Amino acid sequence: MNYTIAVIPGDGIGPDIIDETVKVLDAVGSACGHRFTYEQLLAGGAAIDKVGTPLPEKTLEVCRNSDSVLLGSVGGPAWDHLGGAMRPEAALLGLRSGLGLYANLRPAVLYPQLSGACPLKQTKVEGGLDIMVVRELTGGIYFGKRGRTGEKAFDTMEYSVDEVQRIALTAFDIAMKRSRRVVSVDKANILETSRLWRETVKEVSKGYPEVELSHMYVDNAAMQLIWNPKQFDVIVTSNMFGDILSDEASMITGSIGMLPSASLRKDKFGMYEPIHGSAPDIAGTDRANPIAAVLSAAMMLRYSFSLSREADIIENAVSKVLDGPWRTADIMSEGMTLVGTRKMGELISQHIS
Ligand code: IPM
Ligand code: MG
Repeated sequence: MNYTIAVIPGDGIGPDIIDETVKVLDAVGSACGHRFTYEQLLAGGAAIDKVGTPLPEKTLEVCRNSDSVLLGSVGGPAWDHLGGAMRPEAALLGLRSGLGLYANLRPAVLYPQLSGACPLKQTKVEGGLDIMVVRELTGGIYFGKRGRTGEKAFDTMEYSVDEVQRIALTAFDIAMKRSRRVVSVDKANILETSRLWRETVKEVSKGYPEVELSHMYVDNAAMQLIWNPKQFDVIVTSNMFGDILSDEASMITGSIGMLPSASLRKDKFGMYEPIHGSAPDIAGTDRANPIAAVLSAAMMLRYSFSLSREADIIENAVSKVLDGPWRTADIMSEGMTLVGTRKMGELISQHIS
Protein backbone atom coordinates (compact mmCIF):
# COMPACT_ATOMS: atom_id res chain seq x y z
CA MET A 1 0.00 0.00 0.00
CA ASN A 2 0.88 3.64 -0.49
CA TYR A 3 0.64 6.07 2.42
CA THR A 4 1.25 9.81 2.40
CA ILE A 5 2.74 11.27 5.55
CA ALA A 6 2.94 14.99 6.31
CA VAL A 7 6.30 15.48 8.04
CA ILE A 8 6.91 18.46 10.30
CA PRO A 9 10.48 18.31 11.65
CA GLY A 10 10.03 21.60 13.56
CA ASP A 11 12.72 23.10 15.78
CA GLY A 12 15.72 22.11 17.88
CA ILE A 13 16.35 18.36 17.78
CA GLY A 14 13.14 17.85 15.75
CA PRO A 15 14.95 17.53 12.38
CA ASP A 16 17.63 15.23 13.91
CA ILE A 17 15.15 12.69 15.24
CA ILE A 18 12.75 12.90 12.29
CA ASP A 19 15.56 12.07 9.83
CA GLU A 20 16.19 8.83 11.69
CA THR A 21 12.47 8.06 11.99
CA VAL A 22 11.99 8.40 8.24
CA LYS A 23 14.88 5.97 7.70
CA VAL A 24 13.25 3.47 10.04
CA LEU A 25 9.89 3.85 8.27
CA ASP A 26 11.58 3.28 4.93
CA ALA A 27 13.25 0.14 6.28
CA VAL A 28 9.86 -1.22 7.39
CA GLY A 29 8.32 -0.17 4.09
CA SER A 30 10.86 -2.09 2.03
CA ALA A 31 10.76 -5.11 4.36
CA CYS A 32 6.96 -5.35 4.21
CA GLY A 33 6.12 -3.97 0.76
CA HIS A 34 4.66 -0.57 1.65
CA ARG A 35 5.48 2.82 0.22
CA PHE A 36 5.56 5.88 2.42
CA THR A 37 5.57 9.23 0.64
CA TYR A 38 6.61 12.23 2.69
CA GLU A 39 5.83 15.88 2.33
CA GLN A 40 8.04 18.11 4.48
CA LEU A 41 6.23 21.06 6.05
CA LEU A 42 6.98 24.10 8.14
CA ALA A 43 5.59 24.78 11.61
CA GLY A 44 6.80 26.34 14.85
CA GLY A 45 9.90 28.51 15.09
CA ALA A 46 11.15 27.28 11.71
CA ALA A 47 7.95 28.63 10.12
CA ILE A 48 8.17 31.92 12.02
CA ASP A 49 11.69 32.43 10.66
CA LYS A 50 10.82 31.49 7.06
CA VAL A 51 7.29 32.80 6.54
CA GLY A 52 6.53 34.92 9.61
CA THR A 53 3.80 32.77 11.16
CA PRO A 54 3.97 29.63 13.37
CA LEU A 55 1.38 27.63 11.43
CA PRO A 56 1.17 28.47 7.72
CA GLU A 57 -2.20 27.68 6.12
CA LYS A 58 -0.41 25.41 3.63
CA THR A 59 0.87 23.20 6.46
CA LEU A 60 -2.64 22.64 7.82
CA GLU A 61 -3.97 22.07 4.30
CA VAL A 62 -1.37 19.43 3.39
CA CYS A 63 -1.85 17.71 6.79
CA ARG A 64 -5.60 17.53 6.14
CA ASN A 65 -4.97 15.84 2.80
CA SER A 66 -2.40 13.34 4.12
CA ASP A 67 -2.97 9.95 5.70
CA SER A 68 -1.20 11.04 8.90
CA VAL A 69 1.20 13.57 10.39
CA LEU A 70 4.64 12.99 11.89
CA LEU A 71 5.98 15.84 14.02
CA GLY A 72 9.38 16.36 15.67
CA SER A 73 9.18 19.18 18.20
CA VAL A 74 8.59 22.91 18.25
CA GLY A 75 9.85 25.84 20.30
CA GLY A 76 13.05 27.24 21.71
CA PRO A 77 14.55 30.29 23.42
CA ALA A 78 15.00 32.09 20.08
CA TRP A 79 11.24 32.73 20.00
CA ASP A 80 10.60 33.26 23.73
CA HIS A 81 10.14 36.99 23.34
CA LEU A 82 7.11 36.54 21.08
CA GLY A 83 3.53 36.93 22.31
CA GLY A 84 1.05 34.02 22.73
CA ALA A 85 -0.41 33.66 19.22
CA MET A 86 2.98 34.16 17.57
CA ARG A 87 4.86 31.60 19.64
CA PRO A 88 5.99 28.29 18.09
CA GLU A 89 3.70 26.41 20.53
CA ALA A 90 0.71 28.07 18.84
CA ALA A 91 1.46 25.82 15.85
CA LEU A 92 0.99 22.74 17.98
CA LEU A 93 -2.31 23.95 19.39
CA GLY A 94 -3.44 25.02 15.91
CA LEU A 95 -2.63 21.59 14.48
CA ARG A 96 -4.38 19.78 17.34
CA SER A 97 -7.57 21.82 17.13
CA GLY A 98 -7.45 22.42 13.36
CA LEU A 99 -7.22 18.69 12.71
CA GLY A 100 -9.73 17.83 15.48
CA LEU A 101 -7.29 15.60 17.37
CA TYR A 102 -9.06 15.37 20.71
CA ALA A 103 -7.56 12.14 22.04
CA ASN A 104 -3.93 12.12 23.06
CA LEU A 105 -2.46 8.72 23.94
CA ARG A 106 0.77 8.76 25.91
CA PRO A 107 2.00 5.31 26.83
CA ALA A 108 4.61 5.25 29.60
CA VAL A 109 6.44 1.96 29.44
CA LEU A 110 9.51 1.03 31.46
CA TYR A 111 11.80 -1.11 29.34
CA PRO A 112 13.35 -3.86 31.49
CA GLN A 113 16.71 -3.06 29.85
CA LEU A 114 16.47 0.48 31.29
CA SER A 115 15.03 -0.29 34.71
CA GLY A 116 18.21 1.13 36.26
CA ALA A 117 17.32 4.54 34.78
CA CYS A 118 14.10 4.73 36.80
CA PRO A 119 14.64 7.25 39.62
CA LEU A 120 12.32 5.32 41.96
CA LYS A 121 13.37 2.45 44.22
CA GLN A 122 13.48 -0.78 42.20
CA THR A 123 10.86 -2.36 44.51
CA LYS A 124 8.32 0.20 43.30
CA VAL A 125 8.64 -0.85 39.66
CA GLU A 126 9.38 -4.55 39.98
CA GLY A 127 7.94 -6.43 37.01
CA GLY A 128 7.83 -3.31 34.86
CA LEU A 129 5.49 -0.40 34.31
CA ASP A 130 2.96 0.07 31.54
CA ILE A 131 0.68 3.08 31.95
CA MET A 132 -1.47 4.65 29.24
CA VAL A 133 -2.25 8.31 29.83
CA VAL A 134 -5.31 9.35 27.78
CA ARG A 135 -5.27 13.14 27.68
CA GLU A 136 -8.08 15.32 26.35
CA LEU A 137 -6.33 17.53 23.80
CA THR A 138 -8.61 20.11 22.20
CA GLY A 139 -10.52 21.59 25.13
CA GLY A 140 -10.14 22.85 28.67
CA ILE A 141 -7.92 25.69 29.80
CA TYR A 142 -5.65 25.40 26.75
CA PHE A 143 -8.43 26.66 24.50
CA GLY A 144 -10.53 28.83 26.85
CA LYS A 145 -10.83 32.56 26.67
CA ARG A 146 -7.83 34.35 28.14
CA GLY A 147 -6.72 37.89 28.47
CA ARG A 148 -5.17 40.65 30.45
CA THR A 149 -6.45 43.96 31.72
CA GLY A 150 -4.03 46.21 33.51
CA GLU A 151 -2.68 44.32 36.50
CA LYS A 152 -4.95 41.30 36.01
CA ALA A 153 -4.85 38.27 33.76
CA PHE A 154 -7.26 35.38 33.32
CA ASP A 155 -7.54 31.97 31.66
CA THR A 156 -10.79 30.04 31.53
CA MET A 157 -11.57 26.34 31.55
CA GLU A 158 -14.68 24.92 29.95
CA TYR A 159 -15.75 21.37 29.20
CA SER A 160 -18.94 20.13 27.57
CA VAL A 161 -20.55 16.74 28.13
CA ASP A 162 -19.76 15.86 24.50
CA GLU A 163 -16.08 16.60 24.91
CA VAL A 164 -15.83 14.49 28.06
CA GLN A 165 -17.91 11.67 26.60
CA ARG A 166 -15.72 11.16 23.56
CA ILE A 167 -12.44 11.09 25.49
CA ALA A 168 -13.98 8.77 28.10
CA LEU A 169 -15.08 6.43 25.29
CA THR A 170 -11.51 6.41 23.97
CA ALA A 171 -10.17 5.53 27.42
CA PHE A 172 -12.69 2.74 28.02
CA ASP A 173 -12.13 1.25 24.56
CA ILE A 174 -8.40 1.16 25.25
CA ALA A 175 -8.96 -0.31 28.72
CA MET A 176 -10.97 -3.17 27.16
CA LYS A 177 -7.83 -4.16 25.26
CA ARG A 178 -5.65 -3.88 28.37
CA SER A 179 -6.26 -4.76 32.01
CA ARG A 180 -9.76 -3.20 32.16
CA ARG A 181 -8.98 -0.58 34.77
CA VAL A 182 -9.49 3.17 34.33
CA VAL A 183 -8.53 5.90 36.76
CA SER A 184 -10.19 9.22 35.91
CA VAL A 185 -8.21 12.16 37.27
CA ASP A 186 -9.89 15.47 38.12
CA LYS A 187 -10.18 18.14 40.79
CA ALA A 188 -13.88 17.63 41.52
CA ASN A 189 -13.54 18.93 45.07
CA ILE A 190 -12.92 22.39 43.61
CA LEU A 191 -13.68 22.71 39.91
CA GLU A 192 -17.15 22.66 38.33
CA THR A 193 -15.64 21.37 35.05
CA SER A 194 -14.27 18.46 37.07
CA ARG A 195 -17.68 17.70 38.57
CA LEU A 196 -19.16 17.56 35.07
CA TRP A 197 -16.15 15.45 34.03
CA ARG A 198 -16.71 12.95 36.85
CA GLU A 199 -20.48 12.63 36.26
CA THR A 200 -19.96 12.12 32.53
CA VAL A 201 -17.21 9.55 32.93
CA LYS A 202 -19.47 7.62 35.34
CA GLU A 203 -22.28 7.66 32.76
CA VAL A 204 -19.98 6.42 30.01
CA SER A 205 -18.68 3.66 32.30
CA LYS A 206 -22.17 2.11 32.40
CA GLY A 207 -21.56 0.93 28.86
CA TYR A 208 -18.43 -0.91 30.05
CA PRO A 209 -19.50 -3.15 32.96
CA GLU A 210 -16.24 -5.12 32.72
CA VAL A 211 -14.07 -2.06 33.27
CA GLU A 212 -13.29 -1.05 36.85
CA LEU A 213 -13.49 2.75 37.14
CA SER A 214 -12.06 4.81 39.96
CA HIS A 215 -11.64 8.55 40.44
CA MET A 216 -8.67 10.42 41.84
CA TYR A 217 -7.98 14.06 42.53
CA VAL A 218 -5.05 15.32 40.51
CA ASP A 219 -2.87 16.22 43.50
CA ASN A 220 -3.31 12.72 44.89
CA ALA A 221 -2.66 11.19 41.45
CA ALA A 222 0.64 13.10 41.21
CA MET A 223 1.61 11.65 44.57
CA GLN A 224 0.37 8.11 43.82
CA LEU A 225 2.39 8.00 40.58
CA ILE A 226 5.55 8.24 42.65
CA TRP A 227 4.33 6.26 45.64
CA ASN A 228 2.77 3.31 43.83
CA PRO A 229 2.94 3.65 40.04
CA LYS A 230 2.06 0.01 39.46
CA GLN A 231 -1.54 0.60 40.53
CA PHE A 232 -2.18 2.50 37.27
CA ASP A 233 -3.17 1.10 33.92
CA VAL A 234 -5.29 3.61 31.93
CA ILE A 235 -5.45 7.18 33.23
CA VAL A 236 -7.99 9.51 31.59
CA THR A 237 -7.79 13.21 32.28
CA SER A 238 -8.24 16.75 31.02
CA ASN A 239 -5.85 18.71 28.84
CA MET A 240 -3.71 20.43 31.46
CA PHE A 241 -3.74 17.66 34.06
CA GLY A 242 -2.73 15.25 31.28
CA ASP A 243 0.10 17.54 30.23
CA ILE A 244 1.52 17.54 33.73
CA LEU A 245 0.90 13.90 34.66
CA SER A 246 2.33 12.58 31.37
CA ASP A 247 5.66 14.32 32.03
CA GLU A 248 5.67 12.81 35.50
CA ALA A 249 4.77 9.34 34.20
CA SER A 250 7.48 9.59 31.55
CA MET A 251 10.21 10.35 34.05
CA ILE A 252 9.49 7.27 36.10
CA THR A 253 10.20 5.23 32.98
CA GLY A 254 13.75 6.54 32.98
CA SER A 255 13.88 9.07 30.18
CA ILE A 256 11.47 11.40 28.47
CA GLY A 257 13.53 10.60 25.36
CA MET A 258 11.83 7.22 25.08
CA LEU A 259 8.14 8.08 25.01
CA PRO A 260 5.94 8.43 21.93
CA SER A 261 2.44 9.84 21.56
CA ALA A 262 -0.53 9.68 19.24
CA SER A 263 -3.13 12.42 18.84
CA LEU A 264 -6.28 11.01 17.30
CA ARG A 265 -9.81 11.76 16.28
CA LYS A 266 -12.68 9.36 15.58
CA ASP A 267 -11.55 8.25 12.15
CA LYS A 268 -8.07 6.79 11.87
CA PHE A 269 -6.31 10.05 11.13
CA GLY A 270 -3.67 11.07 13.65
CA MET A 271 -0.61 13.14 14.43
CA TYR A 272 2.36 11.39 15.98
CA GLU A 273 5.12 13.00 17.98
CA PRO A 274 7.54 12.29 20.80
CA ILE A 275 6.37 13.78 24.09
CA HIS A 276 9.72 15.50 24.70
CA GLY A 277 10.50 19.05 23.70
CA SER A 278 12.94 20.54 21.21
CA ALA A 279 16.05 20.43 23.47
CA PRO A 280 17.70 23.38 21.65
CA ASP A 281 20.91 22.96 23.68
CA ILE A 282 21.75 19.73 21.85
CA ALA A 283 20.11 20.47 18.47
CA GLY A 284 22.20 19.43 15.48
CA THR A 285 24.89 17.82 17.65
CA ASP A 286 23.91 14.17 17.01
CA ARG A 287 23.16 13.66 20.70
CA ALA A 288 19.35 13.39 20.84
CA ASN A 289 17.61 10.08 21.43
CA PRO A 290 15.50 9.27 18.33
CA ILE A 291 13.62 6.41 20.04
CA ALA A 292 10.56 8.45 21.13
CA ALA A 293 10.06 9.63 17.54
CA VAL A 294 10.68 6.14 16.13
CA LEU A 295 8.14 4.66 18.55
CA SER A 296 5.69 7.43 17.54
CA ALA A 297 6.02 6.17 13.96
CA ALA A 298 5.20 2.67 15.23
CA MET A 299 2.04 4.09 16.82
CA MET A 300 1.21 5.67 13.44
CA LEU A 301 1.44 2.31 11.71
CA ARG A 302 -0.75 0.71 14.38
CA TYR A 303 -3.45 3.36 14.83
CA SER A 304 -3.69 5.19 11.50
CA PHE A 305 -2.70 2.48 9.03
CA SER A 306 -3.81 -0.65 10.94
CA LEU A 307 -0.36 -2.16 10.28
CA SER A 308 0.08 -3.78 13.68
CA ARG A 309 2.61 -6.37 12.47
CA GLU A 310 4.78 -3.58 11.06
CA ALA A 311 4.39 -1.60 14.32
CA ASP A 312 5.53 -4.68 16.25
CA ILE A 313 8.56 -4.95 13.97
CA ILE A 314 9.66 -1.40 14.90
CA GLU A 315 8.99 -1.89 18.61
CA ASN A 316 10.87 -5.20 18.61
CA ALA A 317 13.79 -3.61 16.76
CA VAL A 318 14.03 -0.92 19.45
CA SER A 319 13.92 -3.56 22.15
CA LYS A 320 16.61 -5.64 20.43
CA VAL A 321 18.90 -2.63 20.17
CA LEU A 322 18.38 -1.99 23.89
CA ASP A 323 19.28 -5.63 24.58
CA GLY A 324 22.71 -4.66 23.29
CA PRO A 325 25.09 -2.14 24.85
CA TRP A 326 24.10 0.89 22.74
CA ARG A 327 22.74 3.93 24.54
CA THR A 328 22.19 7.58 23.68
CA ALA A 329 23.37 10.06 26.32
CA ASP A 330 19.98 10.37 28.09
CA ILE A 331 19.82 6.62 28.82
CA MET A 332 23.54 6.00 29.16
CA SER A 333 24.78 3.97 32.12
CA GLU A 334 28.05 2.42 33.22
CA GLY A 335 29.48 -0.26 30.98
CA MET A 336 27.30 0.70 28.02
CA THR A 337 28.41 2.15 24.68
CA LEU A 338 27.51 5.75 23.96
CA VAL A 339 26.03 6.32 20.49
CA GLY A 340 24.65 9.37 18.71
CA THR A 341 21.28 10.03 17.09
CA ARG A 342 22.32 8.73 13.68
CA LYS A 343 23.96 5.58 14.96
CA MET A 344 20.91 4.77 17.08
CA GLY A 345 18.65 5.25 14.04
CA GLU A 346 20.94 3.06 11.95
CA LEU A 347 20.98 0.30 14.59
CA ILE A 348 17.18 0.25 14.78
CA SER A 349 16.92 0.13 10.97
CA GLN A 350 19.41 -2.75 10.86
CA HIS A 351 17.22 -4.75 13.23
CA ILE A 352 14.28 -4.51 10.85
CA SER A 353 13.87 -7.36 8.44
C1 IPM B 1 3.10 18.68 25.27
C2 IPM B 1 3.77 20.03 25.36
C3 IPM B 1 2.82 21.08 24.78
C4 IPM B 1 1.57 21.10 25.65
C5 IPM B 1 3.42 22.47 24.67
C6 IPM B 1 4.72 22.48 23.91
C7 IPM B 1 2.43 23.43 24.04
O1 IPM B 1 4.14 20.32 26.66
O2 IPM B 1 2.77 18.24 24.16
O3 IPM B 1 2.92 18.06 26.31
O4 IPM B 1 1.53 21.78 26.67
O5 IPM B 1 0.60 20.42 25.28
MG1 MG C 1 3.83 18.71 28.01
